[in-house]
Amino acid sequence: MSAPVDAYARLVRQGPGAALARRLGAPRPTALRRWEAGADLLTGPALVLGIGAAPLAADVSRWLAAAGARLADAEAATDDRFGAVVLDASAVRTTADLAAVREPLAPAFRRLAANGRVLVLGALVADTTTVEAAAVQQALEGLVRTLGKEARAGATVNLLRVGEGAGEALRGPLEFLASARSAFVSGQVLEVGPARGGDAARASAGPRTAVVTGAAQGIGAAVAEVLARSGTHVVCVDLAAQGEQLARVANRVGGSALHLDITAASAPAALAEHLLRRHGGADVVVHNAGITRDRSFVNLDEAGWASVLEVNLRAPLRLTEGLLAREGALRPQARVVQLSSINGIAGAKGQANYAASKAGVIGMVRALDARLAASGGAASAVAPGFVETAMTARMPLLPREVGRRASSLQQGGLPVDVAEAVAFLAGPAAAGISGQVLRVCGQNLLGA
Ligand SMILES: NC(=O)c1ccc[n+]([C@@H]2O[C@H](COP(=O)([O-])OP(=O)(O)OC[C@H]3O[C@@H](n4cnc5c(N)ncnc54)[C@H](O)[C@@H]3O)[C@@H](O)[C@H]2O)c1
Repeated sequence: MSAPVDAYARLVRQGPGAALARRLGAPRPTALRRWEAGADLLTGPALVLGIGAAPLAADVSRWLAAAGARLADAEAATDDRFGAVVLDASAVRTTADLAAVREPLAPAFRRLAANGRVLVLGALVADTTTVEAAAVQQALEGLVRTLGKEARAGATVNLLRVGEGAGEALRGPLEFLASARSAFVSGQVLEVGPARGGDAARASAGPRTAVVTGAAQGIGAAVAEVLARSGTHVVCVDLAAQGEQLARVANRVGGSALHLDITAASAPAALAEHLLRRHGGADVVVHNAGITRDRSFVNLDEAGWASVLEVNLRAPLRLTEGLLAREGALRPQARVVQLSSINGIAGAKGQANYAASKAGVIGMVRALDARLAASGGAASAVAPGFVETAMTARMPLLPREVGRRASSLQQGGLPVDVAEAVAFLAGPAAAGISGQVLRVCGQNLLGA
């Protein structure tokens, strides 16, 4: 089944549809700017602001300029709309500091370009030493989440909490969130610490190998494509019944296809053997395969409950154990990225099985991350919101429409949006990020 088309979004983008939607105050989702080879990082100049000592501002300006961004001057009389506004609030420690945030940020926010980016840099709450400092650093989260909801025309607003000693590790997350690769990430908070594992060692280790489960279609196929962009060999895994589609994806990305039912008793050993023998181990594992069997909890039969837990949670657990148990199947500094879901965070009517499995994935990632740390590896999860795939095409019309509009960006994401986040977390740019859950949901207005 192919992914549905968001006919409403197309209708209200121009002509009489746009005029009518404006008059009714109905949602008018902006076409999001996404990654294109050779395109500029930003749609306009970058304005870097700071509160107090603002210890990160100079590095941020240097990194943005090195990535091709033009730096703006807040005082200059120009009609330029900012492609990005970065506020270094990492030195905010008192309520007076917090009050000082509004004055530079409000006028800059007003001058944000379509598809612009606001990035607030805070400190890790755990690094603060007074109750007041912890309070005002936490306050930045409320500010960012609100600006995400007030931002217009495809603009996004995110918070990076920067740990002591993060240094260069901030650069990758900063560039990811400033770029078109994070088109569907808004209202989110990521913590950045010092780089784990030697990045230089990883970079010099030559081309990488990644395994992606459920790669025949949807998000998995997009993950394979985005990973292959950087020269990674992708082992595309899916059911034998998906053979033809899987072969097409594998060929398109210059990878290889592996037919495997991830729930089979033999799957962990078979995957470990394949990775070791054919590729000398994997650097990246993406547990993406997943299913839904929606029913209210009381009407859910044993098979509907067990099958979802089996595919979405038990199989990734067993596969990972199998890879860890076989020496060399995971290379040093390996990254594991799991597909969770916002429904695993907030719960969802009719999805007790799915929500339990996807919350379980979050627990798995946190514990696994601690285990991988010893070899310089890391585990993280991506929690998509409503994404236009065969899975959401199966939803009844009304919940599907609600799912699309119930986000700050007023539209569903595309598989590539999730794939960009997965590839970011799987790559060297995320060396300072581990054990976290990144929501890719257009700031879905969920009830968690
Ligand atoms: N689409 C969304 O809106 C959305 C939202 C949140 C989370 N997710 C998660 O993202 C992931 C991908 O979702 P999608 O929408 O692309 O799904 P999809 O149904 O389009 O594709 C899932 C793939 O997994 C494969 N698969 C299923 N069972 C398998 C098994 N036992 N062994 C091997 N492969 C198997 C399927 O054959 C299919 O190719 C899933 O984990 C899903 O729960 C999706």
